[in-house]
Amino acid sequence: MKILAIESSCDETAASVVEDGRKVLSNVVASQVEEHKIYGGVVPEIASRRHAEAISGVVDKALSDASLTLDDIDAVAVTYAPGLIGALLVGVNYAKGLAYSKKLPLIPVHHLRSHIAANYITHQELKPPFFCLVVSGGNTAMVEVKDYTDFKIIGRTRDDAAGEALDKAARSMGIPYPGGLNMDRLAKNGDSTAFKFPVPKVEGCPYDFSFSGLKTSVINIIHNAEQKGVEINKADLGASFQKAVSDCLCRNVLKAMEDTRHKTLVVAGGVSANSVLRKALTELCEKKKYKLYLPELSLCGDNAVMVGSQGYYEYLSGNIAGLELNAFAGKNIEEK
Ligand code: KG4
Repeated sequence: MKILAIESSCDETAASVVEDGRKVLSNVVASQVEEHKIYGGVVPEIASRRHAEAISGVVDKALSDASLTLDDIDAVAVTYAPGLIGALLVGVNYAKGLAYSKKLPLIPVHHLRSHIAANYITHQELKPPFFCLVVSGGNTAMVEVKDYTDFKIIGRTRDDAAGEALDKAARSMGIPYPGGLNMDRLAKNGDSTAFKFPVPKVEGCPYDFSFSGLKTSVINIIHNAEQKGVEINKADLGASFQKAVSDCLCRNVLKAMEDTRHKTLVVAGGVSANSVLRKALTELCEKKKYKLYLPELSLCGDNAVMVGSQGYYEYLSGNIAGLELNAFAGKNIEEK
Protein backbone atom coordinates (compact mmCIF):
# COMPACT_ATOMS: atom_id res chain seq x y z
CA MET A 1 0.00 0.00 0.00
CA LYS A 2 1.48 3.34 -1.09
CA ILE A 3 0.64 6.32 1.12
CA LEU A 4 1.26 9.92 0.14
CA ALA A 5 1.99 11.71 3.42
CA ILE A 6 1.90 15.43 4.19
CA GLU A 7 3.32 17.30 7.20
CA SER A 8 2.95 21.04 7.92
CA SER A 9 2.57 21.30 11.71
CA CYS A 10 5.31 23.87 12.33
CA ASP A 11 8.01 25.29 10.06
CA GLU A 12 8.70 22.43 7.66
CA THR A 13 6.55 21.69 4.63
CA ALA A 14 7.10 18.01 3.94
CA ALA A 15 5.70 15.28 1.72
CA SER A 16 6.72 11.71 1.12
CA VAL A 17 5.58 8.40 -0.27
CA VAL A 18 5.90 5.41 2.04
CA GLU A 19 5.03 1.82 1.13
CA ASP A 20 3.46 -0.48 3.72
CA GLY A 21 4.55 1.76 6.57
CA ARG A 22 8.22 0.91 6.31
CA LYS A 23 9.64 1.52 2.85
CA VAL A 24 10.53 5.11 1.96
CA LEU A 25 9.94 5.86 -1.73
CA SER A 26 10.53 9.60 -1.40
CA ASN A 27 11.18 12.21 1.28
CA VAL A 28 10.92 15.93 0.55
CA VAL A 29 11.32 18.59 3.25
CA ALA A 30 11.18 22.34 2.58
CA SER A 31 12.47 24.08 5.68
CA GLN A 32 11.52 27.63 6.63
CA VAL A 33 14.37 28.03 9.13
CA GLU A 34 16.00 30.90 7.20
CA GLU A 35 12.71 32.83 7.09
CA HIS A 36 12.19 32.66 10.86
CA LYS A 37 15.83 33.19 11.85
CA ILE A 38 15.65 36.99 11.90
CA TYR A 39 12.75 36.82 14.39
CA GLY A 40 14.55 34.38 16.69
CA GLY A 41 11.74 31.81 16.49
CA VAL A 42 8.82 30.57 14.40
CA VAL A 43 6.29 33.27 13.47
CA PRO A 44 3.00 31.36 13.01
CA GLU A 45 1.51 33.66 10.38
CA ILE A 46 4.64 33.52 8.23
CA ALA A 47 4.75 29.73 8.66
CA SER A 48 1.19 29.37 7.32
CA ARG A 49 1.90 31.53 4.29
CA ARG A 50 5.09 29.70 3.40
CA HIS A 51 3.32 26.33 3.71
CA ALA A 52 0.62 27.55 1.33
CA GLU A 53 3.27 28.63 -1.17
CA ALA A 54 5.39 25.49 -0.90
CA ILE A 55 2.92 22.65 -0.54
CA SER A 56 1.99 21.86 -4.13
CA GLY A 57 5.63 21.90 -5.26
CA VAL A 58 6.68 19.72 -2.33
CA VAL A 59 3.91 17.16 -2.98
CA ASP A 60 4.69 17.09 -6.72
CA LYS A 61 8.36 16.48 -5.95
CA ALA A 62 7.52 13.68 -3.51
CA LEU A 63 5.55 11.95 -6.27
CA SER A 64 8.16 12.52 -8.99
CA ASP A 65 11.06 11.44 -6.73
CA ALA A 66 9.15 8.19 -6.18
CA SER A 67 8.56 7.94 -9.97
CA LEU A 68 4.83 7.83 -9.29
CA THR A 69 1.71 9.83 -10.11
CA LEU A 70 -1.37 10.33 -7.96
CA ASP A 71 -2.97 7.39 -9.81
CA ASP A 72 -0.45 5.07 -8.11
CA ILE A 73 -1.33 6.30 -4.60
CA ASP A 74 -3.65 4.26 -2.34
CA ALA A 75 -4.28 6.77 0.47
CA VAL A 76 -3.37 10.26 1.69
CA ALA A 77 -2.11 10.72 5.26
CA VAL A 78 -1.79 14.10 6.92
CA THR A 79 -0.70 15.56 10.26
CA TYR A 80 -3.85 17.09 11.78
CA ALA A 81 -2.74 17.74 15.42
CA PRO A 82 -1.04 19.06 17.51
CA GLY A 83 0.82 22.06 16.09
CA LEU A 84 0.36 25.61 14.83
CA ILE A 85 -3.26 25.73 13.80
CA GLY A 86 -2.80 27.85 10.68
CA ALA A 87 0.12 25.72 9.56
CA LEU A 88 -1.74 22.44 10.16
CA LEU A 89 -4.77 23.68 8.21
CA VAL A 90 -2.68 24.15 5.05
CA GLY A 91 -1.65 20.49 5.04
CA VAL A 92 -5.07 19.21 6.09
CA ASN A 93 -6.90 21.17 3.40
CA TYR A 94 -4.43 20.18 0.71
CA ALA A 95 -4.72 16.51 1.71
CA LYS A 96 -8.52 16.76 1.67
CA GLY A 97 -8.42 18.18 -1.85
CA LEU A 98 -6.23 15.33 -3.07
CA ALA A 99 -8.30 12.66 -1.32
CA TYR A 100 -11.57 14.09 -2.67
CA SER A 101 -10.37 14.52 -6.24
CA LYS A 102 -8.84 11.03 -6.46
CA LYS A 103 -11.43 9.31 -4.20
CA LEU A 104 -8.69 8.15 -1.82
CA PRO A 105 -8.97 7.37 1.90
CA LEU A 106 -7.88 10.32 4.08
CA ILE A 107 -5.85 9.29 7.13
CA PRO A 108 -5.47 11.72 10.06
CA VAL A 109 -2.12 11.34 11.85
CA HIS A 110 -1.26 12.67 15.30
CA HIS A 111 2.10 14.47 15.17
CA LEU A 112 3.63 12.76 18.20
CA ARG A 113 2.47 9.33 17.05
CA SER A 114 4.32 10.03 13.81
CA HIS A 115 7.50 11.11 15.62
CA ILE A 116 7.46 7.70 17.31
CA ALA A 117 6.94 6.02 13.91
CA ALA A 118 10.18 7.59 12.60
CA ASN A 119 11.74 4.71 14.52
CA TYR A 120 9.86 2.12 12.42
CA ILE A 121 11.81 3.44 9.41
CA THR A 122 15.19 3.58 11.15
CA HIS A 123 14.70 0.22 12.88
CA GLN A 124 12.78 -2.05 10.53
CA GLU A 125 12.53 -4.77 13.18
CA LEU A 126 10.96 -2.52 15.82
CA LYS A 127 7.39 -3.39 16.87
CA PRO A 128 5.27 -2.33 19.85
CA PRO A 129 4.97 -2.80 22.79
CA PHE A 130 7.71 -0.52 24.09
CA PHE A 131 8.33 2.45 26.36
CA CYS A 132 8.83 5.79 24.63
CA LEU A 133 10.32 9.14 25.57
CA VAL A 134 8.85 11.81 23.30
CA VAL A 135 10.94 14.99 23.34
CA SER A 136 10.01 17.60 20.80
CA GLY A 137 9.78 21.37 20.54
CA GLY A 138 6.20 21.54 21.79
CA ASN A 139 5.79 18.34 23.81
CA THR A 140 7.63 16.21 26.33
CA ALA A 141 6.08 12.99 27.58
CA MET A 142 6.74 9.40 28.50
CA VAL A 143 4.36 7.05 26.75
CA GLU A 144 3.66 3.34 26.83
CA VAL A 145 3.19 2.28 23.21
CA LYS A 146 1.01 -0.79 23.70
CA ASP A 147 0.32 -1.17 19.99
CA TYR A 148 0.77 0.93 16.85
CA THR A 149 -2.35 2.95 17.65
CA ASP A 150 -2.72 2.31 21.38
CA PHE A 151 -0.88 4.74 23.67
CA LYS A 152 -0.87 5.40 27.41
CA ILE A 153 0.71 8.53 28.83
CA ILE A 154 2.86 7.78 31.87
CA GLY A 155 4.19 11.28 32.51
CA ARG A 156 4.35 14.67 30.86
CA THR A 157 5.70 18.14 31.30
CA ARG A 158 3.76 20.50 33.52
CA ASP A 159 5.08 23.60 31.77
CA ASP A 160 7.66 23.94 28.98
CA ALA A 161 8.63 21.11 26.68
CA ALA A 162 12.31 20.12 26.74
CA GLY A 163 12.85 21.57 23.24
CA GLU A 164 11.06 24.77 24.18
CA ALA A 165 13.29 25.15 27.27
CA LEU A 166 16.42 24.56 25.16
CA ASP A 167 15.25 27.05 22.54
CA LYS A 168 14.32 29.73 25.10
CA ALA A 169 17.56 29.26 27.07
CA ALA A 170 19.52 29.50 23.80
CA ARG A 171 17.69 32.68 22.93
CA SER A 172 18.52 34.32 26.26
CA MET A 173 22.15 33.30 25.72
CA GLY A 174 22.15 35.05 22.34
CA ILE A 175 22.46 31.78 20.44
CA PRO A 176 20.70 32.11 17.05
CA TYR A 177 17.59 30.19 16.05
CA PRO A 178 17.24 27.19 15.82
CA GLY A 179 18.43 27.41 19.41
CA GLY A 180 18.39 23.76 20.50
CA LEU A 181 20.49 22.63 17.57
CA ASN A 182 22.91 25.57 17.78
CA MET A 183 23.35 25.17 21.54
CA ASP A 184 24.22 21.51 20.98
CA ARG A 185 26.89 22.51 18.44
CA LEU A 186 28.29 25.39 20.51
CA ALA A 187 28.44 23.36 23.74
CA LYS A 188 30.36 20.41 22.23
CA ASN A 189 33.56 21.42 24.04
CA GLY A 190 31.92 23.11 27.02
CA ASP A 191 32.35 22.08 30.65
CA SER A 192 29.03 20.65 31.84
CA THR A 193 30.05 21.07 35.51
CA ALA A 194 30.75 24.81 35.19
CA PHE A 195 27.24 25.93 36.22
CA LYS A 196 24.94 24.38 38.81
CA PHE A 197 21.23 24.08 38.12
CA PRO A 198 18.36 23.13 40.44
CA VAL A 199 16.99 19.62 40.03
CA PRO A 200 13.32 20.18 39.14
CA LYS A 201 10.80 17.77 40.64
CA VAL A 202 7.02 17.71 40.45
CA GLU A 203 6.03 16.88 44.03
CA GLY A 204 4.14 13.60 44.26
CA CYS A 205 4.40 12.93 40.50
CA PRO A 206 7.77 11.30 39.82
CA TYR A 207 6.97 10.77 36.15
CA ASP A 208 6.12 14.39 35.35
CA PHE A 209 8.61 17.00 34.16
CA SER A 210 9.05 20.70 34.78
CA PHE A 211 11.55 22.69 32.74
CA SER A 212 10.48 26.31 33.26
CA GLY A 213 12.56 26.67 36.47
CA LEU A 214 15.71 25.62 34.59
CA LYS A 215 14.98 28.21 31.94
CA THR A 216 14.56 30.92 34.61
CA SER A 217 17.88 29.84 36.19
CA VAL A 218 19.69 30.47 32.90
CA ILE A 219 18.16 33.92 32.65
CA ASN A 220 19.20 34.68 36.26
CA ILE A 221 22.76 33.48 35.63
CA ILE A 222 22.99 35.75 32.58
CA HIS A 223 21.51 38.77 34.39
CA ASN A 224 23.82 38.31 37.39
CA ALA A 225 26.86 38.11 35.13
CA GLU A 226 25.74 41.21 33.20
CA GLN A 227 25.28 43.17 36.43
CA LYS A 228 28.76 42.19 37.59
CA GLY A 229 30.29 42.83 34.17
CA VAL A 230 31.47 39.20 34.00
CA GLU A 231 31.63 37.49 30.61
CA ILE A 232 29.93 34.12 30.49
CA ASN A 233 31.45 31.20 28.65
CA LYS A 234 28.48 30.20 26.48
CA ALA A 235 29.87 26.77 25.69
CA ASP A 236 30.11 26.00 29.43
CA LEU A 237 26.63 27.39 30.16
CA GLY A 238 25.13 25.52 27.21
CA ALA A 239 26.84 22.27 28.24
CA SER A 240 25.67 22.65 31.85
CA PHE A 241 22.09 23.47 30.79
CA GLN A 242 21.88 20.54 28.38
CA LYS A 243 23.17 18.24 31.10
CA ALA A 244 20.51 19.53 33.52
CA VAL A 245 17.74 18.87 30.95
CA SER A 246 19.16 15.48 30.05
CA ASP A 247 19.52 14.49 33.74
CA CYS A 248 15.81 15.23 34.35
CA LEU A 249 14.75 13.22 31.33
CA CYS A 250 16.99 10.26 32.25
CA ARG A 251 15.92 10.26 35.90
CA ASN A 252 12.21 10.04 35.06
CA VAL A 253 12.75 7.51 32.26
CA LEU A 254 14.68 5.25 34.63
CA LYS A 255 12.06 5.45 37.39
CA ALA A 256 9.15 4.89 35.00
CA MET A 257 10.82 1.99 33.16
CA GLU A 258 11.70 0.28 36.43
CA ASP A 259 8.15 0.71 37.72
CA THR A 260 6.47 -0.41 34.48
CA ARG A 261 9.06 -3.17 33.90
CA HIS A 262 9.66 -2.17 30.31
CA LYS A 263 13.04 -3.17 28.89
CA THR A 264 12.87 -1.42 25.52
CA LEU A 265 13.24 2.34 25.23
CA VAL A 266 12.38 4.25 22.06
CA VAL A 267 13.14 7.95 21.78
CA ALA A 268 11.26 10.32 19.48
CA GLY A 269 11.04 14.01 18.53
CA GLY A 270 13.40 16.84 17.59
CA VAL A 271 15.33 16.80 20.87
CA SER A 272 16.24 13.14 20.29
CA ALA A 273 18.91 14.64 17.99
CA ASN A 274 20.63 16.17 21.02
CA SER A 275 24.10 14.67 21.44
CA VAL A 276 24.14 14.97 25.25
CA LEU A 277 20.77 13.22 25.60
CA ARG A 278 21.68 10.49 23.10
CA LYS A 279 24.89 9.73 25.02
CA ALA A 280 23.18 9.79 28.43
CA LEU A 281 20.37 7.47 27.30
CA THR A 282 22.87 5.15 25.64
CA GLU A 283 24.82 4.89 28.91
CA LEU A 284 21.64 4.42 30.96
CA CYS A 285 20.44 1.61 28.69
CA GLU A 286 23.83 -0.09 28.65
CA LYS A 287 23.93 -0.03 32.45
CA LYS A 288 20.37 -1.32 32.83
CA LYS A 289 20.67 -3.74 29.88
CA TYR A 290 17.71 -2.09 28.17
CA LYS A 291 17.35 -2.12 24.40
CA LEU A 292 17.56 1.42 23.03
CA TYR A 293 16.16 2.71 19.74
CA LEU A 294 17.06 6.22 18.60
CA PRO A 295 15.80 7.67 15.32
CA GLU A 296 18.44 8.42 12.68
CA LEU A 297 19.38 12.11 12.85
CA SER A 298 17.68 12.94 9.54
CA LEU A 299 14.32 11.71 10.91
CA CYS A 300 14.47 13.36 14.36
CA GLY A 301 12.95 16.64 13.15
CA ASP A 302 9.67 17.13 11.33
CA ASN A 303 9.30 15.15 8.10
CA ALA A 304 6.55 13.34 6.21
CA VAL A 305 8.18 9.90 6.14
CA MET A 306 7.11 9.38 9.74
CA VAL A 307 3.56 10.49 8.82
CA GLY A 308 3.47 7.91 6.02
CA SER A 309 4.67 5.20 8.40
CA GLN A 310 2.19 5.95 11.19
CA GLY A 311 -0.52 6.61 8.59
CA TYR A 312 -0.24 3.00 7.42
CA TYR A 313 -0.91 1.65 10.92
CA GLU A 314 -3.74 4.16 11.47
CA TYR A 315 -5.29 2.93 8.22
CA LEU A 316 -5.00 -0.71 9.32
CA SER A 317 -6.76 0.18 12.58
CA GLY A 318 -9.63 1.78 10.64
CA ASN A 319 -8.76 5.39 11.39
CA ILE A 320 -10.08 7.03 8.23
CA ALA A 321 -11.40 10.61 8.25
CA GLY A 322 -14.23 12.21 6.34
CA LEU A 323 -13.89 15.52 4.53
CA GLU A 324 -15.06 17.27 7.70
CA LEU A 325 -11.61 16.53 9.24
CA ASN A 326 -10.38 19.51 11.24
CA ALA A 327 -6.95 20.48 12.56
CA PHE A 328 -6.30 20.89 16.30
CA ALA A 329 -3.57 22.95 17.95
CA GLY A 330 -3.58 20.60 20.95
CA LYS A 331 -4.57 16.95 21.15
CA ASN A 332 -3.62 14.15 23.49
CA ILE A 333 -1.64 11.29 21.90
CA GLU A 334 -4.09 8.78 23.42
CA GLU A 335 -7.04 10.25 21.49
CA LYS A 336 -7.78 9.18 17.93
O1 KG4 B 1 10.10 17.48 16.93
P1 KG4 B 1 10.47 18.80 16.41
O2 KG4 B 1 11.16 18.90 15.09
O3 KG4 B 1 9.25 19.77 16.37
C1 KG4 B 1 8.11 19.51 17.10
O4 KG4 B 1 7.37 18.61 16.69
O5 KG4 B 1 7.92 20.20 18.13
O6 KG4 B 1 11.39 19.42 17.52
C2 KG4 B 1 11.94 20.67 17.42
C3 KG4 B 1 12.77 20.88 18.66
C4 KG4 B 1 13.22 22.30 18.81
O7 KG4 B 1 12.94 22.73 20.11
C5 KG4 B 1 14.71 22.21 18.56
O8 KG4 B 1 15.43 23.18 19.23
C6 KG4 B 1 15.01 20.83 19.06
O9 KG4 B 1 13.92 20.06 18.63
N1 KG4 B 1 16.28 20.30 18.55
C7 KG4 B 1 17.32 20.05 19.32
C8 KG4 B 1 18.34 19.58 18.49
N2 KG4 B 1 17.89 19.55 17.23
C9 KG4 B 1 16.60 20.00 17.29
N3 KG4 B 1 17.46 20.21 20.62
C10 KG4 B 1 18.63 19.88 21.13
N4 KG4 B 1 19.67 19.42 20.42
C11 KG4 B 1 19.58 19.24 19.10
N5 KG4 B 1 20.60 18.77 18.41
